[in-house]
Parts: sequence; structure tokens; C-alpha cells
Amino acid sequence: RPGAQQWVPGSDEGTAGPAGGHPDVDALRAAAPACRGCELWEPATQVVFSAGNPHGRVVLVGEQPGDVEDTQGIPFVGPAGRLLQKALDEAGLQRQDLYVTNAVKHFRFEQKGKRRIHQTPELAHMVACRPWLQAELEAVDPRVLVLLGATAAKTLLGGQFRVTKERGVLGPRDTTAGRFDVLPTVHPSSILRGPPEQRDEAFAALVADLAVVTEHLA
Ligand code: URA
Ligand code: SF4
Repeated sequence: RPGAQQWVPGSDEGTAGPAGGHPDVDALRAAAPACRGCELWEPATQVVFSAGNPHGRVVLVGEQPGDVEDTQGIPFVGPAGRLLQKALDEAGLQRQDLYVTNAVKHFRFEQKGKRRIHQTPELAHMVACRPWLQAELEAVDPRVLVLLGATAAKTLLGGQFRVTKERGVLGPRDTTAGRFDVLPTVHPSSILRGPPEQRDEAFAALVADLAVVTEHLA
């Protein structure tokens, strides 16, 4: 099974604790299970915080954990995550540069019999959960912020932002968490949900967007 530890580049040995009163990622992760900022914690299995290098040069922000992530407690280990990992590899991004997280940290779903059907988070969930993301960005302080899809973009850039229009363009932007070099792109799930005959092309376009980040870091 590809997954879990692929995101974890080893321990965070040798780094100092919270600096200047700002909690580090480990402190945030330890605090998150107690969050009651919105109602999504209750039906979910657990909070899914983040994975990867807490000092990574690139932060990737998804939407929310999916069914597999909710069960495992690790972001991007299900089908969308596998596609993302493949795209990151093809784009030449190094695992140790990456910190992956989500705009909303609990899985939102509708129970249909035994199945749990993904539901897009509402603006209220994004706003409730945003302080976690803001604290993560402050702690990690990345060189590049990659926004995967509309939820991440809405959370950090506001509701008017259109990923389809501005995808693949990396540049400084004022976000609700401060000023960052931002690269908006599509969410890997959109490729899985889209027409199968367009999948290769859509995947290649995601790789091309991510390759802009690789170039920026070089
Ligand atoms: N989709 C996301 O946006 N995040 C995950 O962690 C998994 C799927
Ligand atoms: Fe807290 Fe976010 Fe979970 Fe809502 S989704 S309970 S704000 S961690």
C-alpha cells in the first residue's frame, strides 16, 4: 500500500520548540483533537491534521480529509492522495520539501447505508477551521503555498477567486494568513471525478502547474 509514511520524511529532531510564543506544528497537532470549532468533529473518526516536513519549503493545502484519511488519520493517503503523490513525483518535487495539510481538518460526509459520501465543506466550516491553517503557515513559513482546488483558494484568497482562471500562475498574494508566493491549481479529485477520456490531459496539466514550483525552488 502506498501511503502513510511516504509523507513523513523522518522525525523533526534538532528543531527548537515553539519560538516567540508561536506554537510549532507538533504542538498544533497535539491540540487539534480537542477542537470543537464546528460540528464536523462529532461524526468523524478523528481529526486529520497534516503530514510531511514541518519546515518544508512548500505547503500544499487540500480541501478536507476523505474517507480513507478519516480512518487512517493521515492526509492524502486515499485515491486523490495517490494521484497527488504521482503528480508531485512527476513534477520533480522532493518529498522532504513538502508539508501537506487541509483547509478543513475533519471529514464531512453524508451517511448512505454503509457508505459515507463526501460532502464539500461550507464556508462556515472553512472559516471555523482557518485558524489552524493560519497557525500552521506561521509555524512552517513556506516559500511557496500551493492551493489545491476551490476550498483551499476560498479559505485563503476569498470567495471571488477562480482557480480555473488563475491556475498555474505563481506569484505573491495577500492571503488571510499573510503574504505568500502562491500557486493555485486544481484539486486532484477533480481529475478523478472528471471524464475518463480527459484524465491524462488533466493530470499532465496538474504536473505542469506543480513543475512551476519546482522551478521556483531551484
Ligand atoms: N482530499 C483532500 O483535499 N485532502 C485529503 O487529505 C484527501 C483528499
Ligand atoms: Fe475544529 Fe476544523 Fe474540526 Fe471544525 S473541522 S471541529 S474547526 S478542526
